[in-house]
Amino acid sequence: MLLPPGVLILSLICWASADQTALYDPSIDSSILPISESADVIYLHRKLVEQESITGNEEGVGKWLASYLKEKNFTVELQEVSSKRYNVLAYGKKRETTILVTSHIDTVPPFWPYYYNKTTGLIGGRGSVDAKGSVAPQIIAVQGLREQLQDDLSLLFVVGEETGGDGMHAFSDWDDRPNYDIVIFGEPTESKLVCGHKGMLGFKIKVKGKAAHSGYPWLGVSANDVLVEALGKMLELRQHLPWSEKYGNTTMNFGRIDGGVAANVVAETAEARIAVRLAAGTPGLVRGQIIEHLKDVKANVEDQGGELELEWSGEGYPPVNIDCDVEGFETLTVNYGTDVPNLSGDHKKFLFGPGSIFVAHSDHEALKKKELEQAVLDYRRLIIAASKMDHQERVL
Ligand SMILES: *[C@@H]1O[C@H](CO)[C@@H](O)[C@H](O)[C@H]1NC(C)=O
Ligand SMILES: *[C@@H]1O[C@H](CO)[C@@H](O)[C@H](O)[C@H]1NC(C)=O
Ligand SMILES: *[C@@H]1O[C@H](CO)[C@@H](O)[C@H](O)[C@H]1NC(C)=O
Ligand SMILES: *[C@@H]1O[C@H](CO)[C@@H](O)[C@H](O)[C@H]1NC(C)=O
Repeated sequence: MLLPPGVLILSLICWASADQTALYDPSIDSSILPISESADVIYLHRKLVEQESITGNEEGVGKWLASYLKEKNFTVELQEVSSKRYNVLAYGKKRETTILVTSHIDTVPPFWPYYYNKTTGLIGGRGSVDAKGSVAPQIIAVQGLREQLQDDLSLLFVVGEETGGDGMHAFSDWDDRPNYDIVIFGEPTESKLVCGHKGMLGFKIKVKGKAAHSGYPWLGVSANDVLVEALGKMLELRQHLPWSEKYGNTTMNFGRIDGGVAANVVAETAEARIAVRLAAGTPGLVRGQIIEHLKDVKANVEDQGGELELEWSGEGYPPVNIDCDVEGFETLTVNYGTDVPNLSGDHKKFLFGPGSIFVAHSDHEALKKKELEQAVLDYRRLIIAASKMDHQERVL
């Protein structure tokens, strides 16, 4: 990879300053992770990744994590989200804390076993990046700060992030839930602070026509024809969706198209599943644009006795702005969804984690041992910086 010149200069400065303090004590120098904590984070990460926890099957890893945290003298509460699926909430002396550090314990399928390649320093397996690569360093980071921050920190690990966020929604709606001033979310962000992510709107176009022999198409109404026409309108609309400097263009993906049964039959039904990632505006605005663009196609097919319906997958959400004003961190914006909008409340939010989103859902999901270790230090830096922000700043 070609590094921009600034990176080289920065690493030279770091090297030069490290050289001047050749006799530092790792327990004081915050730029080096003590060996025992390195061992702790690698161990914890391995135990988490070894346990398969594809969304729906988080019971094992959740219960294991709860007992691990109890052993570390956290008070642990399990919130049952659905049968045998638990959010894990952990805190020290008090339940209401200023800061919450959170991530998710479910993964996408399929399961890939854990490995650690000592030659390359790579640690892989399903979830090694997304998001157990955040969970393990978050816990070690918090554990090491409890005394300094007088236990004013909580940890929350939720289920179901990969399939719609039911875990975080359940926590959000929990009658008994504490509120926080600052929430730090863990997802793979290449160890940069995320300044925001795009919004989301999902929908289906469903067409019902009338079957007929393909030799006499005028006797039927081809749902496929109508869907193709509708998608043509959506291609046009793509050029007129809202955009912003910060997030670029709103994109619209035709993720799946189904229609008809055979080449010699006029298709009776057809549908397309579409995901819109919003760079600006609101789901309501884009819904309006979609309806407007499909108005004529819909009127036409209804005239012929067919139907065109839109089915929205939930409310959707606008672009999510996240705080990233902490000195010493690189920043970026991302195009994927997270649990950030699923936690209600008036809190300052941060999103940070080691590893790259580009490998996160792949069969070669992995990150470097060094990234895990650095993440412990980075989370600490982030937590301390956030804890120093005065209340005024926090609630803005
Ligand atoms: C937890 O508390 C017990 C009793 O106070 C103590 O002996 C033990 O060392 C603590 N463990 C950790 C990991 O802090
Ligand atoms: C570690 O990675 C190296 C380089 O890709 C590879 O040659 C080696 O076989 C790997 N070791 C193990 C134990 O998988
Ligand atoms: C956004 O779309 C416009 C027009 O289609 C294109 O010219 C531009 O390069 C796109 N911008 C980004 C960041 O993709
Ligand atoms: C909740 O989080 C999930 C998972 O990241 C995301 O797909 C979903 O759209 C979010 N829901 C809302 C209402 O923000």
